[in-house]
Formats: sequence, structure tokens, C-alpha cells
Amino acid sequence: MSEEEQEGLAPAPGFSQAERDAVYRAIYERRDVRDEFLSEEPSRETILRILDAAHHAPSVGFMQPWNFILVRDPALRAQVREAFARAVEAEAQAIEPERRTLYSSLKLEGILKAPLNICVTCDRARHGTTGLGRSQQPHMDLLSAACAVQNLWLAARVEGVGVGWVSILREADLRAILGIPENIAIVAYLCVGYIAQAYRRPELEAKRWARRLPLGELVFENRWGKREDEGRS
Ligand SMILES: Cc1cc2nc3c(=O)[nH]c(=O)nc-3n(C[C@H](O)[C@H](O)[C@H](O)COP(=O)(O)O)c2cc1C
Repeated sequence: MSEEEQEGLAPAPGFSQAERDAVYRAIYERRDVRDEFLSEEPSRETILRILDAAHHAPSVGFMQPWNFILVRDPALRAQVREAFARAVEAEAQAIEPERRTLYSSLKLEGILKAPLNICVTCDRARHGTTGLGRSQQPHMDLLSAACAVQNLWLAARVEGVGVGWVSILREADLRAILGIPENIAIVAYLCVGYIAQAYRRPELEAKRWARRLPLGELVFENRWGKREDEGRS
């Protein structure tokens, strides 16, 4: 065995075309799901596979700051739904008046319809309050937990499980309902369940709330604001 192999390095073979296609398909066909949940709860094995995918996300300093609270209890979910109702009413007031009717028509959660909710948290002091990669950018632990959410979302998609992220919730409400200590940050509240149908493109696009921005407008070369085609005659 070579020295490199002893250090854990191994060949990194490429993916077949079918494997590449499958990964991109999962990425493009992942949707935020609000209303298409079926009532059957995904099996424990399926949930564990999805959570293990989340647990294999990158994290700053390999901190793995996440926890996953599986919320099945309908009474607790009803409390979260009530908290959502309060928060969405408050948010509606902050929306420009001309968009308020459209906002109010949008479906923005599936807390009770989904058979399972998952709260993803971030233990900001899991391996000490500072650490590798966090001395200059302390919020990297939160971004790591967001990476876990994305892994979860994609793995769920390939399992036929839809996920909907609900952020219209006051943190204090979630903390109280789920008994989350003050030193633990709340990263995501997710509605999770099998789906048989999904929107082809973002529901917010289908319902004319927003559209996907052209990628070309978002890519700069070397410095902020510089586009590839600028400066060419
Ligand atoms: C951080 C975050 C918070 C979100 N919060 C909500 C939410 O409160 N309610 C909701 O319906 N969708 C929420 N979404 C879903 C977005 O609306 C959705 O990702 C976006 O419209 C694009 O659609 P797609 O995920 O189907 O591609 C959230 C997504 C993210 C990443």
C-alpha cells in the first residue's frame, strides 16, 4: 500500500453518463413542496437514509453542528401551524400593498398535511465556541447546517419524498413549542412526506411571484460586477 493510500486517499472514479444524468435530474426536479403531501409516513429506513445524506454534508472544521428533531406529534404540529398563522399575518403587513392579494393566495407551508416535520438546528458551540474556519467568519456553522438541509432535500427527492421549508415562523415560538435551548440556533423547519406530483418549476414562478434570474447576470469575472463579455469589441 502506498503512503498516500495509507493516509486514506483512494482513486476517485468518474460517474457514468446515467449517474450524472440522475444527479442533475434530482437537482432540477427538486421542489419546495407545500400541498402535494400524501398521508403515509415514509418508513424509518427511508428517513434514516435521508438523514444520513444530510449528515454527510460538508461542515466548517468538520464541525457537524446539526441536530434533527423529528416532529410527528399532531398536537405539536398544530401549535407550529398556529405559530405560522400568526407569523404569516405579520409578514403580509410588510408586503407591498399591490402584491398583498397575491401573497395571501400563496400556499406557504404544509405543516399539518405532511405526516412528518423535521426541525434542523445548529449547535454553535459543538466543538468550542471558536474553531477551525470560524474565527473570522463565525456564521460558517449556520451555513454548514444549511448544506445539510440541501443534502436532505435532494436525497428526499430521489426517495419520492417531498420537502417544504417553512421560515415564516418566529424563532421564539418554535423554541418554546419544541423545547429548543437558547444556545441552539434554529436553521430550518421542514415539512416532509411522500409526493405523487410536483410542480415542474418553482411554485412561486408558476404563480407569478418571482422568476428565475438569468444565470449570465449573476456570474462575474475576477472582480465584482465584471462580466465576461465586457471590454470585448
Ligand atoms: C431558506 C429558505 C426558506 C424558505 N422558506 C419558505 C417558506 O417559509 N414558505 C414556503 O412556502 N417556501 C419557502 N421556501 C421555499 C422557496 O420558496 C423555494 O425554494 C423557491 O421558491 C424555489 O422553488 P423550488 O425550491 O421549488 O425550486 C424557502 C426556501 C429556502 C431556501
